Amino acid sequence: MSNLIVLGAQWGDEGKGKIVDLLSEKFDAVARYQGGHNAGHTVYLGEKKFVLKLIPSGILRPNVQAVVGNGVVIDPAALLEEIHGLEAAGINVKAQLKISNRAHVIFPFHRTIEKISEGRDDRTAIGTTSRGIGPCYEDKIARRGIRIADLVDNKFSQLYCSLAEDKQLIATAFKIAEKVDFQDILVRYKQYADEIRPMVCDTSHLLNSLIRQGKSVLFEGAQGTMLDIDFGTYPFVTSSSAAAGGACTGTGVAPNKIDGIVGVSKAYITRVGAGPFPSEDLGEAGEKIRRAGNEFGSVTGRPRRCGWFDVPLLRYTAEVNGFDSLIITKLDVLDDLDEIPVCVAYEVNGKVMTQMPASTQAIEAIKPIFEKLPGWKTKTQGIPSLDALPKQARAYLKFLEEKTEVEIGSVSNGPERNETMIVPGSKLEKLLH
Ligand code: IMP
Repeated sequence: MSNLIVLGAQWGDEGKGKIVDLLSEKFDAVARYQGGHNAGHTVYLGEKKFVLKLIPSGILRPNVQAVVGNGVVIDPAALLEEIHGLEAAGINVKAQLKISNRAHVIFPFHRTIEKISEGRDDRTAIGTTSRGIGPCYEDKIARRGIRIADLVDNKFSQLYCSLAEDKQLIATAFKIAEKVDFQDILVRYKQYADEIRPMVCDTSHLLNSLIRQGKSVLFEGAQGTMLDIDFGTYPFVTSSSAAAGGACTGTGVAPNKIDGIVGVSKAYITRVGAGPFPSEDLGEAGEKIRRAGNEFGSVTGRPRRCGWFDVPLLRYTAEVNGFDSLIITKLDVLDDLDEIPVCVAYEVNGKVMTQMPASTQAIEAIKPIFEKLPGWKTKTQGIPSLDALPKQARAYLKFLEEKTEVEIGSVSNGPERNETMIVPGSKLEKLLH
């Protein structure tokens, strides 16, 4: 069995939760490598709906070791809420979950700092999830953050007081009216530490030991490549390395241990929050997709912006991630459309280009060039094989495969685990054996 990275090829919300849950059956461990409780992975098991934010969806399989890696930022209150919810559903989380001692800790004052940067009149808001993710990563990079190892250590109070003092000064300087009770936070975090401590370990060593024993690991990305701190639509990005490289730095497993990289992409595209979006559809068709695909954020409930599959964007994310295979999700959402536009190139200042520009201004200047493909106007939910799909749906998938030059190894056409087909003979199928 291989060690695989599975990550979003667009702006997040591609349906990775369901895919990781499905694939995790074949793996011994599933590890999250970046982000925090800004992510929301929805998984349906029969009547039950699970929204996982921090814990990898592999937790839903009793024999899978779930790991929250060092690249993740952890709000212990959010983590414990999720653990308690899963326990109430009968899952033995504490036996299956390990948390990196090198992951950084989010405190309530990180949200306060985020409000300062998002709320100032003279600044462009990123439209963040308001979970304190960015400010926690800021502290990490500025070398003043507090890690899980510190939280569970008896030196925690000392480290916490210095960080809290800095934040108190900032809150005063910015005349933050909202009262932050720093002492209360200290007391609560010590209680959280007691509950979390038994699950904390050196997860890099754990994962590498498993790999040495011949076990397989699935690395789960959160958000998506276009929200990556380096390769996304900066500054409208999240603050971590969502791209494939982040799987190594975010877990402490070396690149030469990775056997394959799989991108997850919707059959169309969505984005939440602000920032450029070349193939966005602000009209009736975009609205139709939002309704058919239930495109509302699983963490914040915000309506997602909807648009058409963007080939240059996908080619770009395929290049920076090195996708071996693509999993196309939510094909059935397009069932009712007469025709389906696909963005095949960009026009920028009268020039046709197929590469992703770097600056916000340049991306905003893009005029998408669309090619329209015929719709299939038939229900495709749950159809179990490519051959059984309507011929226009097969032609649509073939078109995406040819234009992106990445194989489509799997298609998901419904929310349930079994509403996913793996293409026989694909690289993906081989990687899963
Ligand atoms: P942050 O991660 O909360 O700092 O938000 C930064 C940007 O990433 C905003 O545009 C968010 O809407 C977006 N974002 C963060 N997490 C997710 C996610 O899981 N799915 C989609 N967008 C996300």
